[in-house]
Amino acid sequence: MIDGKTKLICLIGQDVTKSLSPNIHNYIYDKYNLNYSYMNFSLEEKDLESFVNSVKVLDIKGFNVTIPYKEKIIEFLDEIDESAKDIKAVNTVKNIDGKLIGYNTDGAGYVLSLETNKVNIEHKNILIIGAGGAARGILYEICKYKPNSIHIKNRTQSKSEILIDEVRNIYKKIDFGNFDENIDYDLIINTTSIGMKDETKTPFELDKIKNSVISDIVYIPRETKFLKDGKSKNFKTIEGIEMLICQGIIADQIWLDTEFDTKSLLDEIKNMIFEK
Ligand code: ATR
Repeated sequence: MIDGKTKLICLIGQDVTKSLSPNIHNYIYDKYNLNYSYMNFSLEEKDLESFVNSVKVLDIKGFNVTIPYKEKIIEFLDEIDESAKDIKAVNTVKNIDGKLIGYNTDGAGYVLSLETNKVNIEHKNILIIGAGGAARGILYEICKYKPNSIHIKNRTQSKSEILIDEVRNIYKKIDFGNFDENIDYDLIINTTSIGMKDETKTPFELDKIKNSVISDIVYIPRETKFLKDGKSKNFKTIEGIEMLICQGIIADQIWLDTEFDTKSLLDEIKNMIFEK
């Protein structure tokens, strides 16, 4: 229950009215009796600076940042954590006594969703569909888990090549490249929005794929055509909602300096969201 001591945590973005983040975070605060409340604020870019000042004045403990401000917010922060440096995008900000520190929990959230599904990527061949901001966050994080190869398939190949050139210089043992139809990929990740607006569309046809884990970051619908196709071939699938929930759990761990039992929390939050 909100009382005189309740602290606020929030989400900012251009239009956050449909975001599930309040459901996720307030569930966690209720479950663990934490005196916090999470709210969404849709903002215009010109108001970012005054928002950041309000965070300090009101002692808002932290906030999430979503489209289209994940890059723009950086200039208003005091420090950037390693997790956000390479990606050059921040989705989580912690307020420590008026000092604002930026993190990125998207990639770690994605890896946590793999772990909770018992998918190990060490020595595995991975295909990423898309080369935008979401692909970037996931790519930088999965590189840390020693996959054998990471290939990218993107509509605009020049964009995937820029991304590949960047990481190739950092992770010299991983084979980076463009999609190669002769490789058996162990994990295929959709990072594009294909399948969201038009539920009949898939970002990648699975006809020629023998066996792979199929993972989508789109979470509306819960089961995209890409995931349905994977299921119909009896492949393991990972729903986009899992990454969303996991990046939220990691953000709460940062704000509240605590650790949660992520697997059971993920299952409970998933049930809560889809029971509605
Ligand atoms: P985000 O930051 O959410 O990842 P983004 O930066 O706009 O969003 O990136 C979206 C990615 O999905 C891009 O790789 C984009 O391909 P392009 O680089 O060619 O623009 C890809 N994408 C989005 N819609 C697509 C579509 N209808 N067909 C193919 N690729 C699409």
